[in-house]
Amino acid sequence: MSASPEPINVTDYERLASELLADGPAGYFNGGAGDENTLRANAEAWSRVTLRPRVCVDVGDMSTAVTVLGEQLSMPILVAPTALQRMAHDDGEPAMAKAAQAAGTLMVCSTLASSSLAEIAAAAPGGRRWLQLYLCRDRSVSNALVDQAVEAGATAIVVTVDAPYAGLRERDPRSGFVVPDHIDMPGVTAALGRSAGLTVEEFFSMVDPTLTWAKLEAFIASAPLPVLVKGIQCGEDARLACDHGVSGIIVSNHGGRQLDNVAPTADVLGEVVEAVSGRVEVLVDGGIRRGSDVCGALALGASAVLVGRPALWGLTVGGAAGAERVLEILRRELEITLALLGVTSPTQLTRAHVAGA
Ligand SMILES: Cc1cc2nc3c(=O)[nH]c(=O)nc-3n(C[C@H](O)[C@H](O)[C@H](O)COP(=O)(O)O)c2cc1C
Repeated sequence: MSASPEPINVTDYERLASELLADGPAGYFNGGAGDENTLRANAEAWSRVTLRPRVCVDVGDMSTAVTVLGEQLSMPILVAPTALQRMAHDDGEPAMAKAAQAAGTLMVCSTLASSSLAEIAAAAPGGRRWLQLYLCRDRSVSNALVDQAVEAGATAIVVTVDAPYAGLRERDPRSGFVVPDHIDMPGVTAALGRSAGLTVEEFFSMVDPTLTWAKLEAFIASAPLPVLVKGIQCGEDARLACDHGVSGIIVSNHGGRQLDNVAPTADVLGEVVEAVSGRVEVLVDGGIRRGSDVCGALALGASAVLVGRPALWGLTVGGAAGAERVLEILRRELEITLALLGVTSPTQLTRAHVAGA
């Protein structure tokens, strides 16, 4: 029997994408900060979350559908904001938006997108989207992005707070990575006058490094949409985020791209969930590669997860169809894992479904 040439899991897509990408883009997408300890630890930590199945439960009628911050989705798996998707595939963010819509889930659009929010909305008019926002030194740039997001039908803003500066990602200077000439990042161009030819540090120079909880609270008070905060890594900050008016928290270490040697998100999720104590929904990302990882996260108290690189790998390999296929693989793995755990819906997962929690 010959091996199937079709990729059947996320890791297959990772390998195929790496074969297709040049060194610069591959290093930018796949790399992390410093020694990449957290990058590796993120995925390893989910594989160490031990599941506790129950048996002799009627699992004849399964659903992976959930409601996340009021959004009815086919599954608790969202597309994380990732920059420069046209570098993965010429069809870029519009293709990712089509994939998310076809998979029945939501895409978070990056401030560092290589398409405008209007182009993204036009590609997937029925799709759900949130805007990921870096609060810029020039607030008029952030405000313009928010206006465009409202116009494009976005229903929430995700403010990323773990990147006042770009992390020390060593693959980029080694490969000589700069934003390719043919790619425009409209948000960066609005802030800095251009995006092509910039290094990662250069395009991050648009981000306001003086953001405090008080400034965030002022932004939230004036925002036309609910605001989630992305990049929380401890219970103290989770409590402060709630005190300052966020509508949701995303536990994230930016996929190991910012501060190296921080704990994998699987290890801090429980602390954050406990600190938040049900005041807002808690989401998590970083290293989610399997439906079983999703179940672990939900059992530990997350209402949903986000995937960054897996969606990029799908996009790289097959454009919109590839990204959709990756999302569908994860949804199917989630469904089977739920059934084998003895539940018929993601909402039935509890701490009792993981060992030692
Ligand atoms: C290539 C790449 C670009 C990213 N760009 C952004 C970004 O513009 N804004 C942001 O908040 N997070 C960004 N992230 C972080 C992701 O939103 C997410 O936190 C991370 O990818 C999750 O880890 P995973 O890739 O292991 O799923 C980026 C991640 C990658 C891999």
